[in-house]
Amino acid sequence: MSKKIIVANWKEKGTIEEAQKWIYSVAKEKVLLNFQLVVCPPFTILATLAQLIKKENLQISLGAQDVSQFHEGKHTGEVSPDALQELATFVIVGHSERRKDFGETNEIVAQKVNLAIRHNLIPIVCISDIGQVLALKTLLPNFSHFIAYEPLFAIGSGQADTPENADSIACQINAILPRVQVIYGGSVDSKNIALYMRQKNLKGVLVGDRSADVNFFLEVIRNVE
Ligand code: PGA
Repeated sequence: MSKKIIVANWKEKGTIEEAQKWIYSVAKEKVLLNFQLVVCPPFTILATLAQLIKKENLQISLGAQDVSQFHEGKHTGEVSPDALQELATFVIVGHSERRKDFGETNEIVAQKVNLAIRHNLIPIVCISDIGQVLALKTLLPNFSHFIAYEPLFAIGSGQADTPENADSIACQINAILPRVQVIYGGSVDSKNIALYMRQKNLKGVLVGDRSADVNFFLEVIRNVE
């Protein structure tokens, strides 16, 4: 069975210098052998971390937090999947903050996922309800990568969903899209991470911007069994 994954979604946090220190501290942890770590810093930090990970041969994967919905063209501010492919292995798509703050629809999310896959990026699609999974299934019937179940009430609130409920939602998602790997995100911390990592239908967790704080994140991963 493949290792479970832990995704660190830094959102807007982190500078290049902080990121370098973070990687060196986290890379020393023996517990990294027990799961696959995917760090998703802001775009501006990806290149530095990609070089560092390669140079030191670290067992840490990189992810972007978004990708353009266009393969190419004139779209000021967007980062193309071609450009990302050089630096990252994973890409988060459709986080609820992008859906809410930037008007990303299910169609745009599906377009981004499609492009990501065509450019060998592994998409982690965030959904906050089953309706969004059904929409994904309609638009991409064979989707088989990662889905992060992130209920809105749990994001950044300190009120995580229960591990049992998250597991049962994962089961419902797999009834719709049997080949996807479901992870849970929303107020994951050092006290509850082991409970999510232990659930049968959950293949890992996603930790939000507190993961950019190296002390917080070290505490979290040290509590994975
Ligand atoms: P949180 O965020 O860990 O701060 O709750 C999760 C997310 O927004 O992806």
